[in-house]
This record gives sequence, structure tokens and C-alpha cells, in this order.
Amino acid sequence: MTDIKGKVAVVTGAGSGIGRALAYDLARRGAKLAVSDVDATGLAQTVKQIRVIGAPVHHARLDVTDRAAVLSYADEVASEFGVVNIIMNNAGIAFTGDIEQMSFEQIERVMDVDFWGVVNGTKAFLPHLIASGDGHVVNISSLFGLLSVPGQSAYNAAKFAVRGFTEALRQEMLVNGHNVHVTCVHPGGIKTAIARNAGAVDGHDVAALAAFFDAKLAKTSPEAAAKSILRAVIGNRPRAVVGLDAKILDIAVRVLGPAYQRLLVMGAGRLMPSAAAHAAVADEPKTTGNGRARASA
Ligand SMILES: NC(=O)c1ccc[n+]([C@@H]2O[C@H](COP(=O)([O-])OP(=O)(O)OC[C@H]3O[C@@H](n4cnc5c(N)ncnc54)[C@H](O)[C@@H]3O)[C@@H](O)[C@H]2O)c1
Repeated sequence: MTDIKGKVAVVTGAGSGIGRALAYDLARRGAKLAVSDVDATGLAQTVKQIRVIGAPVHHARLDVTDRAAVLSYADEVASEFGVVNIIMNNAGIAFTGDIEQMSFEQIERVMDVDFWGVVNGTKAFLPHLIASGDGHVVNISSLFGLLSVPGQSAYNAAKFAVRGFTEALRQEMLVNGHNVHVTCVHPGGIKTAIARNAGAVDGHDVAALAAFFDAKLAKTSPEAAAKSILRAVIGNRPRAVVGLDAKILDIAVRVLGPAYQRLLVMGAGRLMPSAAAHAAVADEPKTTGNGRARASA
């Protein structure tokens, strides 16, 4: 795919953040949009602005974990536009907590949205993309799909899974001679509502976590992220690492190998101050600590 103009593009989780910025950018480049979100209010704002830009838009309230709904949604979009070229599996949630404290259900919820939501969207739209003769799958993983951090095991697991799934898909499309390109996206900290919408195990101050993420970790605007993602789509690139923070850490992990883990534990104080406080408390044998705040990328 060398041009977005006239293409039919589907964006999940388009009611906020990166998904919304992608939808606006696609609309400005002349795409026809199908946008969805579980949040009808956020989605309505996105649709309003797409109409101002002047692009054709189909919209639906859609929960990406509802497989039957995603499958019929794909057919609905294909019959509305006659063709589907791009699926951007963007919808996602964040959750903070150590494995010791997290319930099975909390881990499963993150996997349901962040991994199975991507699988549902990919499988539902893939036949339509193949039929289009010029398709592209864009799956949003994370910097946390390239490296793991304490307190983000469920999110890490989901985002590493998205990466594995997406890279295999790209190879399968090439092996099978389908004209469907595939890009896995790894953003660093992007200024969106993700931390404000995030959950955490009991004892975490979610508001403080969000404030810390917004002030210290979210360095890239959603608009810049969307631009970088669309550059990767037009360039048919397998991977888009978005933001300077993600680019630097990606290189660091590749240079250091598994030793990056020790550095992250040592550097946790600067990245995540309350994690360091916890580490200090944990070093004292008879004291237990919790209440540390960590952020997502
Ligand atoms: N913001 C970051 O720093 C960052 C970094 C790396 C990766 N990401 C990923 O980017 C994607 C977009 O996140 P964002 O930062 O724009 O966050 P956001 O919270 O601003 O937007 C996410 C959107 O997904 C929607 N959503 C959540 N669960 C859903 C579901 N079950 N079905 C349909 N929609 C659902 C939300 O309603 C929201 O509108 C996510 O996959 C996230 O993991 C974000």
C-alpha cells in the first residue's frame, strides 16, 4: 500500500487517544472510515470531527472482546463500503499490579481486551483484506511488547502475544502470496487517557499513577504517534517503534539482552519512584510494602 487515499480503513478503540488520532489522520488523507469503540460518547466526538474533515464514516459501538459481534461487524463494514483495506486493532486497556496480588480474572481481562481483541479483529477482517487485493493489518502492541517491567505482567503478556501473533501473520501473508501487509506497532509513552482509564490491584492509587504517567512518561502526542504509524503503513514496514523513548529502550534491550532486566530493577526508582520505595522496603526482611504506582506504555 503506497497511498491511503480512497482506502477503507477500520479503527477499533477510536473514541480516544491513538485510535482517534489515527482516524482523523486517515480521514485527512482521503480514507473512508469505519470507527468503533465500547465508549459511545467518545466515539460520537470522533465521528463528529471526521464529518467535519469530510470523510465518509461508518460507526458502531463495539466491544472487541465480543467475538460474535466483531465477526458480524466485519461483514457489516464490508457490505457498507464494498471492500475493506485496512484494519487497525487499536482498542486496549492497562492494568497495574504484581502477579502475587492480581486475581486470575484481572489477568484474563487484560488478555481478553489487549490480545483476544486483536485476534478477533484480525481474524474477522482478514478474509476481506485478502479479497481487497491491497490490504494492511496494523496491530497495536507496545514498548511493553519489547521489554517487560515489574507490575505490568498481564499487559506485558498481552502485548508480547500481539507481537508474536502479528509477526507470524506477516510471514504467512508473504508465504501464501496474499497482498496483505502487516505492521506491529510498539509505542512508548503517548499522551492519551490510557493511564486515567487504567485499573490496578487494591492498594494502588490509580489517580497518582495516572498523574505520574501524564507528567513523566507520556512524551509523544497521539497525533505524532498516528503520523509515525501511517508512515509505517505507507512504507509497508513490519514494525513501527513510536517515540524516542521506545526507540532508545528498544535498542538498549537488543544490545543488553536479558541483562536489561537487572537494569530496569535498579532504575525503577527513576522510572517509577514508588516502585523503588517498594524495593527499598522489600529489602528490609521484616517489613512488607505495597501501594507503589507504575505506568503503562
Ligand atoms: N498511551 C500509551 O502510552 C500507549 C503506549 C503503548 C501502547 N498503547 C496502546 O495503544 C492503544 C490505544 O491506547 P490509548 O493510549 O489511545 O488509550 P485510550 O484509553 O486513550 O484509548 C483506548 C480506547 O480503547 C477503548 N476500549 C477499551 N476497551 C475496549 C473494548 N473492550 N472494546 C472496544 N474498545 C475498547 C477505550 O474506550 C478507549 O476509547 C492500546 O492498545 C494501548 O495499549 C498505548
